[in-house]
This record gives sequence, structure tokens and C-alpha cells, in this order.
Amino acid sequence: MRSKRIATITALVAMLCALPNGPSAMAQTAPGRAPDPAICSDKANPPKDTLTQGGCIAIERAKGNCDACHVVPGAASGNIGPALAGVGRRFPDNELRARVEDPARFNPLTVMPPYGKHEILTREEIEKLIAWLKTL
Ligand code: HEC
Repeated sequence: MRSKRIATITALVAMLCALPNGPSAMAQTAPGRAPDPAICSDKANPPKDTLTQGGCIAIERAKGNCDACHVVPGAASGNIGPALAGVGRRFPDNELRARVEDPARFNPLTVMPPYGKHEILTREEIEKLIAWLKTL
């Protein structure tokens, strides 16, 4: 009897994991922190959940590289710009997006790259990045 119940639970968990986007509880990273770089660089098994993907976009050198200038929880970080912890509370979504897409709109002399305007990141990548930034 008991083993049958365990088998049912196992089957249910397997079904949940097989859902196209997976339950978000299956995230490979804790919200509010940078993911483990090893998870991001695992090309054979790339992260499937949006938050981990967004965090990877933030820390990957060829993508956001945000931690080169900003203190990012959980990453070895620079501090040329303000710490990113709490950005999701400091700015409404549209301003957060605008600051990533074209920071010169807020400071014409900024050293921060215009990720959207210069297509350093795709629209989809920016949305994933924003979703992750909001967890910080
Ligand atoms: C070359 C350095 C540099 C990089 C790389 C960089 N930023 Fe910035 N960022 C800055 C600086 C400096 C500021 C302060 C305002 C200004 O000068 O534009 C800033 C400001 C911000 C702000 C406004 C924060 C606030 O509290 O006022 C956000 C949000 C932000 N950056 C997000 C990001 C994200 C996300 C990335 C990666 C996709 C990133 N930045 C990459 C330098 C950088």
C-alpha cells in the first residue's frame, strides 16, 4: 500500500517536472541572488527557468556583465554604480526597463551601456533580466 502511494507521488512529481515551463519552484537559483556561474555556463544543460536565465544574463561577461559595475548579491562585484539590491522596490517596472535599455536618458554622461538601444541584449533577454532584478 505504502509503496503504491510513493509510486503515485513519484509519478506526480515526474509529471510536474515535465511541464513545459516547469513549476517555478523548480528554479535552479534562489531569488534575490546571482546564480552559481557553473549553472550559467553549463551549455549541455542550460537553465530552464526564467529567473535563473535572467540572473545568468546579469552575470555573464558577454551579456549583462552587470556585476562588473554593480554590487550584486551572490556575485563578486564592482561598485562603480549603485548596489542593485532592492532595485525592484526603488523603481516601477517601466523605469527599471528604461534604465537598462537606455541609461543615458537618466544621465547623459553615464558609463553604463545602453543594453536595449544598442541591442546588447534582446528584448526577451531584457524581460528575463528585469524579472530577476525584481527579486533582488
Ligand atoms: C560600466 C559600468 C556599468 C555596467 C556594466 C552596468 N551599469 Fe548599471 N549603472 C552604472 C552606473 C555608473 C550607474 C549610476 C547612474 C548612472 O551613472 O547612469 C548605474 C545605474 C543603474 C541603475 C539605476 C540604479 C539606481 O539605484 O539608481 C540600474 C537599475 C542599473 N544600473 C542596472 C544595471 C544592470 C541590470 C546592468 C547589467 C545588465 C548594469 N546596470 C550594468 C554602471 C554600470
